[in-house]
Amino acid sequence: MKINLGNIKKAQKLLNKSECVAIPTETVYGLAGNAYSDKACKIIYKIKKRPKNNPLIVHYLNNQTLKKDCSFNNDFLKLYRVFCPGPITFILDLKKNSKISKIVTNKKNTLAVRFPKHPVTRNLLKKLDFPLAAPSANPSSKVSAVSSNDVKDDFGKKVKYVLDGGKSSIGLESTIIDIRNKPKILRLGGLEISAIEKILKKKITISNNPSKVSSPGQLKIHYSPGIPIRLNVKKTNKKEAYLSIKKMKQNKPNFYFLSKNGDLKEAAKNLYSTLRKIRKKKYKSIAVSKIPNKGLGKTINDRLKRASKF
Ligand code: TXA
Ligand code: MG
Repeated sequence: MKINLGNIKKAQKLLNKSECVAIPTETVYGLAGNAYSDKACKIIYKIKKRPKNNPLIVHYLNNQTLKKDCSFNNDFLKLYRVFCPGPITFILDLKKNSKISKIVTNKKNTLAVRFPKHPVTRNLLKKLDFPLAAPSANPSSKVSAVSSNDVKDDFGKKVKYVLDGGKSSIGLESTIIDIRNKPKILRLGGLEISAIEKILKKKITISNNPSKVSSPGQLKIHYSPGIPIRLNVKKTNKKEAYLSIKKMKQNKPNFYFLSKNGDLKEAAKNLYSTLRKIRKKKYKSIAVSKIPNKGLGKTINDRLKRASKF
């Protein structure tokens, strides 16, 4: 995708004035503001209708710019070298003298940190002298946005500017790992756990039980398209949309598929946009056929399960 420097300049100007803009990332679009500014962070919570106790992820260009705000250990560096920039978010200890707004962390002494790979957003981060707080650019508890039009559909004029970066190439939120002590996954995401385990050379616990966890991305009801979803469905009727992992031989108007041949990467990329497409067609519910529970399929199933708690 060609980078439009004029658009980046426009976003930069608004962000410098502590306004919010939507930004493209390879996972999903983010609703971004200056992470050092209370004003900007308050606007994010307000537009997104996000509960105040749900902290924000902060996006940095690299670990050099992160040094001022957080301390990090060897495990962090191992993963950083291999996967960053990319779809992984680290929970780190905040430094006492960090300038991160208290609104971002809800007064916690940890910070969720990510290094996005999208070239448009990297170009923007290079021009800013602050990191960007950016939760996913969707109203709280609803399905995430993977294109600039998704953001406009959800927020209209409430978001002053949407920086376009095409369709998000991964299409699922980042994998969140608490890396401070014994590494622990808090949210399944766009980076497979087996890849992380390979680098750290150890088994990692997954702690995404919503009753225990401090990462509300793991709340039971989340990522909802706004209509009921049934999972592992074999038989459907024509009143509901039928969603399957691969294109079926039989094609009916209410049939939707996530990939041509069952490729999980392709399916992940298409998940949210397909849920949005189905909602626009005014179906009353969605029936989903079984999706293999391996690799990115685990993240897809995690999201569908939470979305089905509507
Ligand atoms: O891919 C992504 O991660 C996208 C893009 C825009 O970067 N962002 C995203 O943000 O998904 P959000 O706010 O929708 O999800 C971030 C999750 C939330 O569930 C939040 O509770 C959790 O991260 N989180 C933030 N700070 C935390 C902290 N200090 N400790 C534990 N969880 C934290
Ligand atoms: Mg979100």
